[in-house]
Amino acid sequence: MSHDSGWMAYRSLTRDPSVSDRKVNRALVRRIFGYAGKYRTLIIFFLITLVFVSLLSVAQPLMIPRLVDDGINKGNAQVVTVMALIIAVLAILDAALGLVSRWFSARIGEGLIYDLRTEVYDHVQRQSVAFFTRAQTGALISRLNSDVIGAQQAFTSTLGGVLGNLISLVIVLTAMFILSWQVTVVSLLLVPLFLFPARYMGRRLQSMTRESMGLNAAMSTQMTERFNVAGALLVKLFGRPEDEAAAFSGRAERVRDIGIRMAMANRWFFTALALVASLATAIVYGLGGNLVISGVLTLGTLLALVGLLAQLYGPLTALSNVRVDVMTALVSFERVFEVLDLLPMVQEAADARPLPSGPLSVEFEAVRFRYPGASEVSLASLEAVARDEAAVEISDVLTGISFVVPAGTMTALVGPSGAGKTTTTALLTRLYDVTDGCIRIGGMDIRDATLASLRDGVGVVTQDSHMFHDTIRANLLYARPDATEAELLEACASAQIGGLIDQLPEGLDTVVGDRGHRLSGGEKQRIALARLLLKGPRVVVLDEATAHLDSESEAAVQRALDTALEGRTSVVIAHRLSTVRRADQILVIESGAVAERGTHDELLARGGTYAELYRTQFSDDAFAGIDAD
Ligand SMILES: Nc1ncnc2c1ncn2[C@@H]1O[C@H](COP(=O)(O)OP(=O)(O)OP(=O)(O)O)[C@@H](O)[C@H]1O
Ligand SMILES: [Mg+2]
Repeated sequence: MSHDSGWMAYRSLTRDPSVSDRKVNRALVRRIFGYAGKYRTLIIFFLITLVFVSLLSVAQPLMIPRLVDDGINKGNAQVVTVMALIIAVLAILDAALGLVSRWFSARIGEGLIYDLRTEVYDHVQRQSVAFFTRAQTGALISRLNSDVIGAQQAFTSTLGGVLGNLISLVIVLTAMFILSWQVTVVSLLLVPLFLFPARYMGRRLQSMTRESMGLNAAMSTQMTERFNVAGALLVKLFGRPEDEAAAFSGRAERVRDIGIRMAMANRWFFTALALVASLATAIVYGLGGNLVISGVLTLGTLLALVGLLAQLYGPLTALSNVRVDVMTALVSFERVFEVLDLLPMVQEAADARPLPSGPLSVEFEAVRFRYPGASEVSLASLEAVARDEAAVEISDVLTGISFVVPAGTMTALVGPSGAGKTTTTALLTRLYDVTDGCIRIGGMDIRDATLASLRDGVGVVTQDSHMFHDTIRANLLYARPDATEAELLEACASAQIGGLIDQLPEGLDTVVGDRGHRLSGGEKQRIALARLLLKGPRVVVLDEATAHLDSESEAAVQRALDTALEGRTSVVIAHRLSTVRRADQILVIESGAVAERGTHDELLARGGTYAELYRTQFSDDAFAGIDAD
């Protein structure tokens, strides 16, 4: 117990003092207790065991007067044996109850971590894409890790620590006063002697702790940024490994130095605590010894006082820092709640219905859109470089787009870079909601459709398809977990990737590597197509890869596409001549609006923007030949 409370006192010194200026917010406290309600019974048992642990540790020294005065001094062997046995039993009970109490606190603490963590995870994954384009992954992960743990400590350590220390302090002081008020008053005189340097040390430790957290974060940021395929590639192609190593060693060096300083500060604290306790013991022996000689105290009482003294300083220091402790815990809760209170931008309507069955048409009606600003989608605290964007006028990316894709037909979007093609397709899957106008699928406003039916109804293949670091099979099954082996193989065959999978030694169980980097661009795209085929959506959105594939992969992807788009309603951002030629309708998007529309031949005959793009953008092999003529 005494070591525990000493450590707790130390820990409370490492807390950030800036938080203690804050006011306790009642609503926040009520909300926290809402989470704790589930553990009410456990908490009650935990507090009861704490009370008993404190009582038992004070009870042990209180047995000494009888042992010494009535036993040893009077030569009564029986009393000595009985009292020694009682002390032993008390010690065993104390130890056992300490274990039980730890079990309760662990159950409550880990339970709370689990509850908060799963809730935050679920909430974060329901945020709109806009949120993820803003928030820093590292900052988010730290909410799920350190803040959740910090919040949990409010419950077990702080709640338990405050109560346990308070009880210990009251009992120890009462017992000491009853035994000898003179000795108690003198030993309390030493308290300020210890508390003032301890508070000074605390301030230094606080700033060191904050600094060390920042330094550690900087060090791990470099690791997470560089140690993934994309980051490592960039370093290989552009970076200078020596500079990278130097930057890292600089950071690691600062972590090392602050570690040494903190270790020493820590040692100073415990040394001071032990020294003050020893000095107090010496004083108690000196003063108490004289009192024993003059007959005011018995020897047993003196020894009991010394025993109690050891339990005085730890709780005292810990309690002197309680406010910082409690506030730190509240701040952690606040930071977790801040994330939980962020409403996703895109939400399902209360009376949402599934999309209608059968083939689906797609219709854009006077759609305007601008990307939301930072304040609308994210938390400033999750962005490392949050700037005040209020001053910047955000302009519309789409300025009124209308078109209809009849069910089962294909519409190609073409246009210069930055025109708004990807943005248009993002709206179709409700990655963002339109600012004005309306998008209908199968005649139904997509804001009235359930998110699940929209997910099932619309399939997307992006330019750079993402894959989880897992097997090909697992990545495919992500689209449809209940797909059979035969269905998997069929999808792969249709996507023209069956041959490759047959060649791989582990077939479908080959691990694709971080973000699918172990596959070529064309292979990855075909696997993405296989994934789409498995899902079997009625509407397909496709952003063709801009990267040029060799003619063999090109042809394979083309065949895969034919299968994927057959009989489906599709919106394709086209970069290949073969795609635009096949489209039932081509929309030329320019500056967020439809500049031209028609079939390939119609638009070519018009000699407008499309004809121009046709000459410059669609550098198809076959076409390049024609162009040269
Ligand atoms: N998440 C975003 N937040 C703010 N602005 C964005 C965001 N994504 C795109 N934009 C802006 O919207 C405009 C349209 O971008 P979009 O990605 O739709 O172009 P695109 O037609 O697909 O171009 P490309 O052919 O190069 O892929 C661009 O000016 C771009 O800078
Ligand atoms: Mg794009």
